[in-house]
Amino acid sequence: MRMIIVNEQEKVFHLNNGRISYLFYVMESGQLGHLYFGRALNPEGSYLHMVEKAHRPMTTYITEGDLYTSYEHLRQEYPCYGTSDYRYPALEIQGSDGSRICKPEYQRYEIFNGKKLLSGLPATYVEDEGEASTIEIFMWDPVRSLEVILSYSIFRDVDAVARSVRFVNHGKESVFINRAMSMSVDLPDADFQSVQLSGSWARERHIHVRDLQPGISAVSSMRGNSSHQHNPFLALKRKSTAEQSGEVYGFSLVYSGNFLAQAEVDNYQVLRVMMGINPFGFQWKLDPETDFTTPEAVMVYSGDGLNGMSQQFHRLYKSRLARGYWRDRERPILINNWEATQFHYVEDDLILFAAKAKECGIEMFVLDDGWFGARSDDRHGLGDWYANMQKLPDGIEGLAEKIEALGMKFGLWFEPEMVNRDSDFFRSHPDYIIATPNRSTSHGRNQFVLDFSRREVVDAVYEQMYALLSKAKISYIKWDMNRSISECYSQAYPANQQGEIFHRYILGVYDLHERLIQAFPSLLIESCSSGGGRFDAGMLYYAPQGWVSDDSDAVERLKIQYGTSLVYPISCMGAHVSACPNEQVGRRTPLETRGNVACTGAFGYELDLNRLSSEEIEIVKKQIAFYKENRRLIAEGNFYRLCSPFETNFAAWETVALDRQRAIVTVTRILSEINGPYRRLPLCGLLAEQKYHIKSRFLSYDAYGDELMQYGLMLEDKSSGQVIDGSGGCQDFLSVLYEITAI
Ligand code: GLA
Repeated sequence: MRMIIVNEQEKVFHLNNGRISYLFYVMESGQLGHLYFGRALNPEGSYLHMVEKAHRPMTTYITEGDLYTSYEHLRQEYPCYGTSDYRYPALEIQGSDGSRICKPEYQRYEIFNGKKLLSGLPATYVEDEGEASTIEIFMWDPVRSLEVILSYSIFRDVDAVARSVRFVNHGKESVFINRAMSMSVDLPDADFQSVQLSGSWARERHIHVRDLQPGISAVSSMRGNSSHQHNPFLALKRKSTAEQSGEVYGFSLVYSGNFLAQAEVDNYQVLRVMMGINPFGFQWKLDPETDFTTPEAVMVYSGDGLNGMSQQFHRLYKSRLARGYWRDRERPILINNWEATQFHYVEDDLILFAAKAKECGIEMFVLDDGWFGARSDDRHGLGDWYANMQKLPDGIEGLAEKIEALGMKFGLWFEPEMVNRDSDFFRSHPDYIIATPNRSTSHGRNQFVLDFSRREVVDAVYEQMYALLSKAKISYIKWDMNRSISECYSQAYPANQQGEIFHRYILGVYDLHERLIQAFPSLLIESCSSGGGRFDAGMLYYAPQGWVSDDSDAVERLKIQYGTSLVYPISCMGAHVSACPNEQVGRRTPLETRGNVACTGAFGYELDLNRLSSEEIEIVKKQIAFYKENRRLIAEGNFYRLCSPFETNFAAWETVALDRQRAIVTVTRILSEINGPYRRLPLCGLLAEQKYHIKSRFLSYDAYGDELMQYGLMLEDKSSGQVIDGSGGCQDFLSVLYEITAI
């Protein structure tokens, strides 16, 4: 199938995979104009008549004598600053003459099958060339001799277009890129609501919806990490769009640093959406014959509601962004000691901790913070990646051996990007941290950020990690990052390159990941940043799972995981059962509920199983057996959000196996209700004519797919006030799993 059609005469480019279309064209002036993004249009069609322009008062026109053509009116593809378009531009280039105008003009295009990787940056990829087609549009600014190459890849099996932009300076002087967004699109109307994932530490990625108004709605980060506060994602949905129906555009940035995602409604109700590196604080000096590539942005269109959008992102991200040894493998069930012990343990405690976990069926023990250098609390030791011999007399090698001897894998916590002042590493390299000369340096959790924009700093950390990983049996690392960057400045770069440091820092983080992956291809990396402070598509390229949040309370997790699922696949969400009362919010929830919520993710435990009663251990064993039996379905299946904890007293979701022969539905009622209505929950994604058996704690019945999707799944809890089995059918935070199996 030809996925990129070019109308040479009209200079119109039509990306079309049979389900979505994306169209743009070359204007008379040589700039690119946007035509259409949405449900697929006829590939034979001619679409230039979609261009709308009019003679309007108080407008600046491009050419004398022409009172119709202004960039202010025309929908643009990659708008540049200073050329009669007064909306925010995607591109601003500053020359040595101080001018900030840039007018790249269309030169030529190239089409090829497949998709290129981005050097040093994470990006979606293909496994065979038929999976995507790419068009590169070559633009040229004659004044600056600057080449601008816009790249678009459309996927055959996913309704997504991936974009990035590359700049090559062919001039004799350096230019400065002040602003270079990864994508921009001008949609023809603004009758949308924007959907964003915002929150804070322990409350990440809550769904927020707002009506667009004239002007700008934006989310961004200036913290150096993509942040707990806002995720690098933005969706635009119609007011009537629901989970399973209606139109929605999703935009996701494959990047982990400072970003900007914004929607601007202009005075003619045109909606400009753009996304890329946050221009605030950014400036890149592009020397002659060097190039710069923006991160990749992924644009999804769905006519099947928010859930339809999520499924496109999930499909692409779990199989063509996540990569490597662990991408398609069943992830080990792990137990992490952090919430149980914090910094305070010795080897014997850990062995007892792990042995009990092994007895329950857990497959990997992860030793969290506190194992290295002089680390007795968060004031000491960061940067010294060798074992604290008082706690671990046989070192990490010895401990790893002992864990392996139990029949488990061993995993280890690192925070590679940070140092405490009280560390050997800092004492030998006090100049390796990010700090501005003659200014005080702020700390976060008593720690400072290593200057990963410098190769020698990344090398020094790599050497320490490599030494340990190559001699100890370490199967997994939890890569933490517990503060944002402040006083951003690098001693290694001149004044006119300080605007590059935030971006160079992230490139350094990616480089260290890449080197470790190359050296230890079967190492499983779980990303973390005080929970979900850097939970983004960029990290997913290096770490196929991430710790969703430091909040492990099952009720808080309903919203966090529900929001996270808007973009990110279930297989990448680290989710653990923790102790009661919960460490973060003090809530007591049933162990079953904690298990049900955590098992929709990369499942594990975060508590000392030796402290549980024998009845509780039996429940844990059942949870583990259930997960082992179903983890492939959970990781690979199609995920449906059925009932929102943001809008109701319930959270419900469903995972349907790819062959639609099995499904698991999780229904959690937040607060108990008395004498409530009878409830049914319409399911999704089943085969209408297939008969299924439904099994939950108290229910067992057969029904056809059509009934389950139309009339709905009968919920066992009728909130009638009855105590169903004497164990509290009417308690708060009750969660029930329904297994649906084709018969
Ligand atoms: C961060 C992580 C936690 C834990 C601690 C250890 O907060 O998110 O899971 O690893 O650091 O200090």
